[in-house]
Amino acid sequence: MSKLVLRDVVKNYGDFTAVDHVNLSIDEGEFVSLLGPSGCGKTTTLRMIAGFIPPTQGTIEMDGQVLSSPNSSLPPERRQMSMIFQSYAIWPNMTVAENVGFGLKLRKLPAAEVRQRTHEILEVVQMSHLADRYPAELSGGQQQRVALARAIVVKPSVLLLDEPLSNLDANLREEMRFEIRRLHDEFRITTVYVTHDQGEAMVTSDRIAVMSAGRIEQIDAPYTLYNRPKSRFVAGFIGRTNFLEGKLAADKVTFDGFEIDARRFGAAFNGSDGSVRFSVRPQTLKLHSAPLANGAGGCVIGGKIVERSYLGETWDYVVSPNGANLQLRVSTLPSQVHDVGDDIWIEFDPEQMAVIA
Ligand SMILES: Nc1ncnc2c1ncn2[C@@H]1O[C@H](COP(=O)(O)OP(=O)(O)OP(=O)(O)O)[C@@H](O)[C@H]1O
Ligand SMILES: [Mg+2]
Repeated sequence: MSKLVLRDVVKNYGDFTAVDHVNLSIDEGEFVSLLGPSGCGKTTTLRMIAGFIPPTQGTIEMDGQVLSSPNSSLPPERRQMSMIFQSYAIWPNMTVAENVGFGLKLRKLPAAEVRQRTHEILEVVQMSHLADRYPAELSGGQQQRVALARAIVVKPSVLLLDEPLSNLDANLREEMRFEIRRLHDEFRITTVYVTHDQGEAMVTSDRIAVMSAGRIEQIDAPYTLYNRPKSRFVAGFIGRTNFLEGKLAADKVTFDGFEIDARRFGAAFNGSDGSVRFSVRPQTLKLHSAPLANGAGGCVIGGKIVERSYLGETWDYVVSPNGANLQLRVSTLPSQVHDVGDDIWIEFDPEQMAVIA
């Protein structure tokens, strides 16, 4: 059964729609991210789940019970959820251990149990040795660990995290995403995680809901989302890509300057004649310095290297197919060196070209 269900949820502020008919079903123990650009409605959605704001329309249910609707809303403290806010704060006047144990004390657990559970969770987030420090004596990452421990220690039904890593520097952010996923694997708390960082969402999540202008554009597992984006927005937001326009007619897709047998795209087609648009990831294109038989693998066309940048982990090339008014980004292994102006053969793999709306 679904743990958490958002049914046709809308949030209006005056005549501005911040959340626009969102439907979302989250399984018990699942980790779902809301991913999207600034202002797309992520925090608003999360705050509605937490119960801080009521929806204008629609319902939010947990374990089959309606928590929120336009005319009734269970208050946040009765939802058994923990939330870490976008600008997280741990109480500056309490030690690490006091911060973590506070929620348990509020729930009037015996002092010995508060101590025990606080100790256990601090072990898990590797903060036991700093239990008596105050927040001002901690690094950003350590404070973040305390915030996570504090949210998890009360064994919430649902954990809500709003950009919990946004205050950290890049390296620490990367380390903490693995930490968050590890904690999830250990405790299996149903989690909704808000972020605008696609890498963070990919590492932590079972499924990612990509939001734009208050709507969920697509929700899928990271692999599917990356390899089979359904819209231009999703394809462009999740990683880098090339957009290719083609015309489907008589079993062929004709692009600017070349064509590919439509049957090679496998099941990806909806069959209707007319324009088709593809998202083609830079690393799915291969470059060859010599012509290649156009048989087995895919489709090979001639072109030239127009631009190149060396990024250490990859080369990023811009190539232009001959006779086409088209530029494509191709990323290759660092060992594959071509010069600007070189003749090149570009190999497409139709299986890896995603048809988008
Ligand atoms: N109380 C409010 N009154 C009016 N508009 C609001 C209110 N709260 C949020 N909004 C608007 O709703 C939209 C969505 O806001 P929200 O905070 O959900 O965005 P977000 O996706 O979390 O963005 P960010 O990544 O910047 O945190 C924004 O355009 C915002 O200005
Ligand atoms: Mg926000």
